[in-house]
Amino acid sequence: MLSEIPLNTKIRAMPKSASLFVNDGLSRSKTINCFDFVPSDYKVVYAVLYSMPRERFCEWGSGIGIITGLADMLGFDACGIEINDQMATASRELLADFGLSATIKTGDYFEISHDADIYFAYCWPGQILRVEQNFLSIIPDQAKLLIYYSAEDVRCKVKP
Ligand SMILES: C[S@@+](CC[C@H](N)C(=O)[O-])C[C@H]1O[C@@H](n2cnc3c(N)ncnc32)[C@H](O)[C@@H]1O
Repeated sequence: MLSEIPLNTKIRAMPKSASLFVNDGLSRSKTINCFDFVPSDYKVVYAVLYSMPRERFCEWGSGIGIITGLADMLGFDACGIEINDQMATASRELLADFGLSATIKTGDYFEISHDADIYFAYCWPGQILRVEQNFLSIIPDQAKLLIYYSAEDVRCKVKP
């Protein structure tokens, strides 16, 4: 069982460069046929990341790479893992076009390991338990897991 710790989700204005990046990423994502890609509310996630220590960050299911890129802009050492090959390729192009050095691994985050201090997942509700179990079994004890349930409900979970 994971426990929950408080999270600061007070919205703060994104710099213009970050808004441009988000908008460009969203428009690129529309050209790719990926049923599983549902964007999160990037203003909310930006606020959450802003409030956290700048550590190693890994996005499980990074889609077009917007959160991974925002984390990079904020000073995290950021990486995304994305199973959809087209999305992963497009996200690498997006990051490169904005001069960001975050990396994207193509594959299944249940199979690919990546050392980080903060993990982020926005998955189908039916997958959340599996994501938590994966975190419990393979991730070091001090790490944090951010789970995006909705724009109004982002939770930070840790091992007890
Ligand atoms: C709901 S979208 C969220 C995308 C992004 N995290 C965001 O918040 O905008 C979930 C993403 O996870 C990817 N995905 C689903 N299962 C995955 C898995 N097992 N390994 C890697 N990526 C996965 C999907 O292809 C999709 O791009």
